[in-house]
Amino acid sequence: MQDFEFYNPVRVFFGKDQISKIIPYIEPGTRIMLLYGGGSIFKNGVRDKITEVLKDFTVTEFGGVEPNPSYETCMKAVGVIKAENIGFILAAGGGSVIDAAKFIAAAALYRGADPWDILAEKVPVTAALPLASVLTLPATGSEMNKNAVISRKSTGEKLAFASQYTFPRFSVLLPEAAATLPQRQVANGVVDAFVHVLEQYLTYPVNAPLQDRQAEAVLLTLVEEGPKAYANPADYDAMANLMWSATMALNGLLSCGVPGDWSVHSIGHELTAFHGIDHARTLAIVQPGLWKALFEEKKEKLIQYGKRIWNITEGSDDEKADAAIRRTVDFFESLGIRTRLSDYNAGPETIDKIVARFESRNWLEMGDRGLTTPGVVRKALELQL
Ligand code: NZQ
Ligand code: ZN
Repeated sequence: MQDFEFYNPVRVFFGKDQISKIIPYIEPGTRIMLLYGGGSIFKNGVRDKITEVLKDFTVTEFGGVEPNPSYETCMKAVGVIKAENIGFILAAGGGSVIDAAKFIAAAALYRGADPWDILAEKVPVTAALPLASVLTLPATGSEMNKNAVISRKSTGEKLAFASQYTFPRFSVLLPEAAATLPQRQVANGVVDAFVHVLEQYLTYPVNAPLQDRQAEAVLLTLVEEGPKAYANPADYDAMANLMWSATMALNGLLSCGVPGDWSVHSIGHELTAFHGIDHARTLAIVQPGLWKALFEEKKEKLIQYGKRIWNITEGSDDEKADAAIRRTVDFFESLGIRTRLSDYNAGPETIDKIVARFESRNWLEMGDRGLTTPGVVRKALELQL
């Protein structure tokens, strides 16, 4: 097992009637920004519940955070925060709104010239406003981690940052509110969470059996419960199981003491930046291609994954690893998620642009063991044309 440090300070309130519990965790008299997206919180009753619970606070509502939240919108919110002396951000919605809250919280206290440098230049965050979330969409794990991914419309870039200052102070996880999700977003959530686990699990063996079993527990639960939540988002038990699985997939626990990859995400972010493809769908395209491009290097873990998740026990090692890839693709496709670039009108010119971008950023050895070179990126995507 590798050395590790684990820290996660997020207080989780999970289930029904949880929003009222948040009051002790916001200092009295604090001015609050209620941050939201395109308005789903008005339809599922979440906004009304929050407003009722926060009736003794001054609350400024700021809506319009986009899926794949933009730097431009975030900076408008920073302006409001400064003008109104806001001291706490409550994000209500999915990962995009929570990620936006994290960036806004850091940008509001940023002392340099342009907060974009937090993303583009990796300038460390040294302070952030307190933030919290009310989650209505199981997918990203943002509710219990320190990461955020922000897009810049003017340059077509999508970049991530992480800081210990941007953990939510608390997160209220509401499976009930997720009942109004379109099936497409449920499918996205299952696949995003699934690939989060794979990025931390499907590398190479380091004799970390507990972490492997924990990762496999999340994968198996997603395979069992994901399709039920997809078929019927109002199935409370299935949605609750999906939501907790998605949170566990990316709250730092699974990465303790094991190598990570994350190059599927890095490549996927470019597909969103260039084509606007939903985050999870980009992962469903890239993951099988990257496995095929790094077949020998990933084989040992692919065989373990195939055996423990998909009961693949017959055939040669190559046949087992190959079957594991095929079963994964079938699982994604069973949720209505296509896995080829051509399914999204993307082609060879997109591959050229992505490879050129990674080279210009000097991202030459990404992921597990630095295996994801520009040549591997090209091969992985060409295999998914
Ligand atoms: O904007 P509203 O009106 O709220 O509608 C949203 C949005 O249109 C809707 N929605 C959310 N809850 C709903 C609902 N509709 C009906 N009923 C509900 N209960 O769903 C749409 C998608 O929301 P979004 O927040 O964009 O989805 P998701 O949670 O999948 O977040 C995706 C973003 O998170 C980033 C992605 O890159 C992407 O930008 N990620 C963040 C990560 C992190 N912070 O750790 C890790 C991930 O790998 C990912 O990169
Ligand atoms: Zn993801």
